[in-house]
Amino acid sequence: MTGSRSPGPGDEHVFALFMTPEGRADPFPLYHALREADPVHWTALGFWMLTGWEGCARALRSPALARDFVGMRSLTGNDPSLLSRPCYASQAQWIVYRNPPDSTRLRGLVKQAFSHAFVQELRPQMESIVADLIDARTGERQMEVIEDLAYPLPLLVITRMLGAETANRDLFRQWAMDIAATLEPIVAPEVSARADESMLAAEAYFARPDRREAA
Ligand code: HEM
Repeated sequence: MTGSRSPGPGDEHVFALFMTPEGRADPFPLYHALREADPVHWTALGFWMLTGWEGCARALRSPALARDFVGMRSLTGNDPSLLSRPCYASQAQWIVYRNPPDSTRLRGLVKQAFSHAFVQELRPQMESIVADLIDARTGERQMEVIEDLAYPLPLLVITRMLGAETANRDLFRQWAMDIAATLEPIVAPEVSARADESMLAAEAYFARPDRREAA
């Protein structure tokens, strides 16, 4: 939801969250402070920020609220040409940014592919990936759990499912990271330029009929 009004108390926490290296590195004390000060907060950036369980649960279930991708991406500080660019044109089609009945229909299709039985079938593969990732760090007797396990695990699972060649997994990760960088509320021009390139490269890659052959 966007509009024009004055920010309530707690906007300094929002600023620190999005604009400072400390806030990026450890956002949780700032979420906590904002929840204490104003759990349903109108920010100077032009959107509501909900940090309490109750507010989030009510907003997510409210029939009066809808997803507004264009409104969200047109906030203060963003380049006005953003929405005509490849990365955003593609994101506007994502299920998470669509409303019923589109989102219901698309989610129904995804649900068929990710049935309980199918995910159970993946279990041995996932377990073997986890074991390999842990084994790779045993010599050092320590691991950085996010970098060494949480990032590569979903990447290895999804690239295997999509039939991407092993040699392209680093590239796939780079595309995912470049595109994910544009999920921030304010995006610098060089960040969206990189995301455009990655989106186009990813789309071209997955459109290739031969990509499964080398999997
Ligand atoms: C680095 C790896 C991954 C990336 C970058 C990624 C990215 C995404 C993105 C961008 C969406 C939103 C799509 C949309 O709204 O249209 C999505 C949705 C989804 N992903 Fe992944 N994903 C990854 C790994 C996985 C894995 C490993 C699984 C399961 C085995 C998975 C299952 C799903 C499902 C079920 C949805 C649909 C959620 C919904 O109903 O909205 N993803 N993913």
